[in-house]
Amino acid sequence: MNKFVKPLAAGKFTAENNLLLAPMAGITDAPFRIMCLKCGAGIVCAEMVSARGVDMENAKSLRMLKIDKRERPVSMQIFGSSAEDIASAARAAQAAGADIIDINAGCPVKKINKAGAGCVLIKQEKLLAEIVRAAVKAVKIPVTLKTRIGLTEGNFAGDKLAQIAENEGAAALVMHARYASRMHSGPADLDALCKAVFSCKIPVIGNGGVTNLGLANKMFETGVAGVMIGRGALGNPRIFEQIAAGRETPPEPRQKAADYLDIIKENVKFYGEKTGLARARKTTGYWLGGFPDAGALRAEFMKITTLAQAEELFKNII
Ligand SMILES: Cc1cc2nc3c(=O)[nH]c(=O)nc-3n(C[C@H](O)[C@H](O)[C@H](O)COP(=O)(O)O)c2cc1C
Repeated sequence: MNKFVKPLAAGKFTAENNLLLAPMAGITDAPFRIMCLKCGAGIVCAEMVSARGVDMENAKSLRMLKIDKRERPVSMQIFGSSAEDIASAARAAQAAGADIIDINAGCPVKKINKAGAGCVLIKQEKLLAEIVRAAVKAVKIPVTLKTRIGLTEGNFAGDKLAQIAENEGAAALVMHARYASRMHSGPADLDALCKAVFSCKIPVIGNGGVTNLGLANKMFETGVAGVMIGRGALGNPRIFEQIAAGRETPPEPRQKAADYLDIIKENVKFYGEKTGLARARKTTGYWLGGFPDAGALRAEFMKITTLAQAEELFKNII
């Protein structure tokens, strides 16, 4: 057992444990979220959804709000640049069955930033406060804020951001411990994360660079209430149960391939055969490593057009 892994309370909501799957656009859809919950994640976060898209009833945005009954607890993340849009999208996500609403104030992608959303909100403190306040007022479920330790290297803003989240009624803060200018690379700045933890009373969930038990425990030592894992769960969803157990074994290629086949089947059920297989291909490299002929295997999988062919291919390797 891992002494750091325990129930996580965020406002009125309590999750069984404090290991969270990070939101990842194009990746943390319902099939992957279901798998991570089966493998011990305490909360799973959905890929970001455009508040404007939800408000305009855009078909893709509405589909992203779909929640499978097997994937609870789930946090729905929304991004936007206006308090009104965020409030109404938060209501829609609540109606769709979300357990938590998360607001994105950390995404460094240009297209999102140009529209005034994501990490640019870090320097717009007044607007960010309005957005959090509006979401908290709009829904009965807890609202969390996911942001960064600052915009540019060395310009720490974690304390101010923590204050905004707390003052506006957020139930917890998710702090990606990298400056936005770093995108997703480089080590997590655990000193900065620790400063953020001690600048507010609400729970702070740490995120950034956790790919194994040792790194998870190092992050817990900063005083965070929970640890959120992104890329470390790709091709390795069992990371959650391993961190909780306090013992890890290297991912076993045949087990990974079996888990991948489960995801592929769920994808086909969720999206239909063509889109389901296309979605599954985005992460093939993470799942099919470790075999002596992994390159050829991946190339073979890329050619596949039906679930039956995938099952046939996997029959020989699992
Ligand atoms: C492909 C990809 C997509 C991402 N999409 C989102 C997103 O939709 N919303 C968000 O808040 N963060 C997003 N992130 C950031 C992750 O949630 C996380 O903060 C980041 O990957 C750092 O965690 P890690 O080092 O454990 O991967 C994304 C990251 C990646 C790699």
